[in-house]
Amino acid sequence: MSQKPKILIQIDSDRHTSVFDSVVAIDSGIDHLLPHANVSPEDIEALVHGAMFTRGAKDLSHTALFFGGNDVAATEELVRATKKCFFGNLRVSLLSDPNGSNTTAAAAVLCAQNETDLGGKNITILGGTGPVGQRIARLVGSVASAATPPASIRVCSRSLKKSQGVCDSLSDLTGFKFSPFETSSDQLTRESVRNADIVFAAGAAGIELVSEGWISSDSAPRVAIDLNAVPPAGIFGVSVTDQGEKRDNTICYGAIGVGGLKMKIHKQAIKNLFLSNDLTLETEETYRLGVELNK
Ligand SMILES: NC(=O)c1ccc[n+]([C@@H]2O[C@H](COP(=O)([O-])OP(=O)(O)OC[C@H]3O[C@@H](n4cnc5c(N)ncnc54)[C@H](OP(=O)(O)O)[C@@H]3O)[C@@H](O)[C@H]2O)c1
Repeated sequence: MSQKPKILIQIDSDRHTSVFDSVVAIDSGIDHLLPHANVSPEDIEALVHGAMFTRGAKDLSHTALFFGGNDVAATEELVRATKKCFFGNLRVSLLSDPNGSNTTAAAAVLCAQNETDLGGKNITILGGTGPVGQRIARLVGSVASAATPPASIRVCSRSLKKSQGVCDSLSDLTGFKFSPFETSSDQLTRESVRNADIVFAAGAAGIELVSEGWISSDSAPRVAIDLNAVPPAGIFGVSVTDQGEKRDNTICYGAIGVGGLKMKIHKQAIKNLFLSNDLTLETEETYRLGVELNK
């Protein structure tokens, strides 16, 4: 008996569905993409019921949902609304990767782990309050280093209050005690990375967070990972294409250097959605898939 075609329903809170996500979906071997833009929580029930009730229980693994969009909080609300529509085994698999945050954070953490254990290390996350930075913090504070936790994880922000708020919610989520750190000046930023073994720069696109001279200085870390792809670099001296390049004593990764693994995780995640009807891929699950692919 012939199999039903694989249908991916792309749900996006933005005015237009992400072209990037559509292209990756098509390149991942699906048969049909049904893109929906501008979706709000009250639209979800009809969309999800359309996925759940049309093809019969045995064919539910041939329909899946992808959640994207620039507004990460809005997308997470759509995912929560979706889960409420499922009951028993009457559900479809879903992948949530708003603004690439889950796949990017997973790939960044895995790149760091390719170079060094996270256990016992001092880790600084610049731009740590954004979606990518928060997910990196969450992963390094829990899943990635369950056996031996890092010595410290600094979550940096231009605002100490904002950083404290993020640290509190991450601590509630993981049980790890995160350290808030204010980086409202060049001097404070230099302070935030002093004695760090690993530095992740997850600041906004096109924003330089660490200025010239640090990468070649005595206080440079063992590993520096800069996720900003838009010039100027987030960490001066790290090239966007770096993929384990050694610059003085620091092993460097740039956004494109991390991007190869990110894309591999994204594509495999979409393929896996069609293996069963009950897969949920969010931050931790996406990271665990990355661990398998990175072996
Ligand atoms: N390689 C890839 O495939 C890939 C995929 C997705 C994202 N990215 C990149 O990853 C990075 C993080 O993404 P994101 O979505 O989490 O970023 P984001 O939300 O745009 O920004 C992250 C943080 O940067 C800080 N920030 C914003 N404007 C700033 C400014 N003018 N000066 C200093 N700090 C500023 C903010 O922290 P405070 O307000 O708390 O200071 C913000 O929370 C971005 O550069 C993005 O382009 C790469």
